[in-house]
Amino acid sequence: MPKACRTLTANPIMPDTLESTTALPLPPGPEQPMALDIDLPSQQAISRLLTQYGDIFRVRIPKRKQATYIVTNPDAVKQILVSNHSNYIKGRGFERVKMLLGNGIIVSDGDFWRRQRTMIQPAFSRKHIHRMNAMMQQVTQQLIPRWQHKADRHEALDISTEMSEFALELILRALIADDLDTLKQTCGENPFAFLTANPARNLAVAMKFRQLAPLIQSVIDRRRKHHEHHTDLLDALMYATDKQGKRMTDKELMDEVMTMIIAGHETSAGTLNWVWYELARHPQIEARLSSEASSMVHDGGIKIDDVTKLAYTKQVINETLRLYPPVWLFTRKAVADDSLAGFHIPAGTDIFLSPFFSHRDPACWDDAETFNPERFANDGKHLKHKYAFIPFSAGSRRCIGEYFSYIEMQTHLAILSTQFSLSLLPGQHIKIDPGINLRTKNRIMMTVHRRQD
Ligand code: HEM
Repeated sequence: MPKACRTLTANPIMPDTLESTTALPLPPGPEQPMALDIDLPSQQAISRLLTQYGDIFRVRIPKRKQATYIVTNPDAVKQILVSNHSNYIKGRGFERVKMLLGNGIIVSDGDFWRRQRTMIQPAFSRKHIHRMNAMMQQVTQQLIPRWQHKADRHEALDISTEMSEFALELILRALIADDLDTLKQTCGENPFAFLTANPARNLAVAMKFRQLAPLIQSVIDRRRKHHEHHTDLLDALMYATDKQGKRMTDKELMDEVMTMIIAGHETSAGTLNWVWYELARHPQIEARLSSEASSMVHDGGIKIDDVTKLAYTKQVINETLRLYPPVWLFTRKAVADDSLAGFHIPAGTDIFLSPFFSHRDPACWDDAETFNPERFANDGKHLKHKYAFIPFSAGSRRCIGEYFSYIEMQTHLAILSTQFSLSLLPGQHIKIDPGINLRTKNRIMMTVHRRQD
């Protein structure tokens, strides 16, 4: 049994009668109400409060009836996500996420979520993802001529935009395969391109995004009319059936497709952006990653069986996900009373879980701020606590795209790292921007070099 990395030392507050009927104390926390959202001031506030109160504390958020708890204690995280997961629903969450995703699988709950998850899961089987690997290679290889051009002319490369465009193209092709070309022709450009050009995720962007639903609907209608079959995610979703043998309605299908676009785009884009940044800062790690790939990449391509053997590349990806988890904060709501790490959790409590802070907890990680892929050697067997590393969440609501994104990122890094090395343009101060996803505040500019070896 792994032990909690941290022993709770904070002074507990006894529960007031309004919030609790049990004898256990409530977690400590500031008395003054404070706003918490997905933004930098909130992230800074959480950081201060974790230091002050420990790995489970409560805050009063204006306009919310009950206190919100922030939890990074790994035993409590395990209880919320795994051992007592049925007591913790998605709950209210963040309105901005709902605006983008409708009632897609990320935000839905209960029987409806279970039905959707069961129907969608086969589309993410290893077999199905392995079949998409040729597409993943092609989308990666499309970058090569531009990077060569930049290298030869010593022109700067905006790696953040490159990764955003790459991941968008890849998730769209995973979803609708060559129908993406038809949409590009009809619209004169990739109609989803504004997602990479405009980093904001506000109401205007959400509206624009949702207005693209008819384009996806036109693909669905045409495929149905001609009884077409493809090896893409849309095909799997269109023909998936529930226990009663029923398919998704068009509205359900649309919410899930739109969910996949958002969930699969920014997460992989952000992670790869940070991987290239850390590789540029650590030439020895970069050399080892490239050397691992070079024995497996032939003629600019790599077999899927070899992609799954890229152990060190996976360590680098994991260490990047540790320091820069794209989903840096997510929420749950307690359905019934519970106790977590010795504290009382009243029914209805909103809970914030934060991969970002769990992953940097000095009690769980030695030299927590240092980029060191070695900690994930041997498949992370030596981690102090399994639930101190939750970039994809855990339990039944774990990310459905986890394996997909490892294969995507390993393929991408293997092919490109054998041809290029990147270095940071001097004079940049890279800062994090914690929005719906954890991104860089400014785009990262790189110099590209062709590899001689
Ligand atoms: C580096 C890549 C990724 C990371 C770090 C990541 C992270 C996460 C996290 C933390 C959650 C749980 C959120 C919560 O419970 O509130 C989640 C859920 C989800 N992710 Fe990912 N994700 C990644 C890539 C992808 C990709 C590529 C796809 C689709 C192609 C995807 C689709 C989903 C879906 C559909 C869910 C909801 C699952 C459910 O609630 O049943 N993700 N992801």
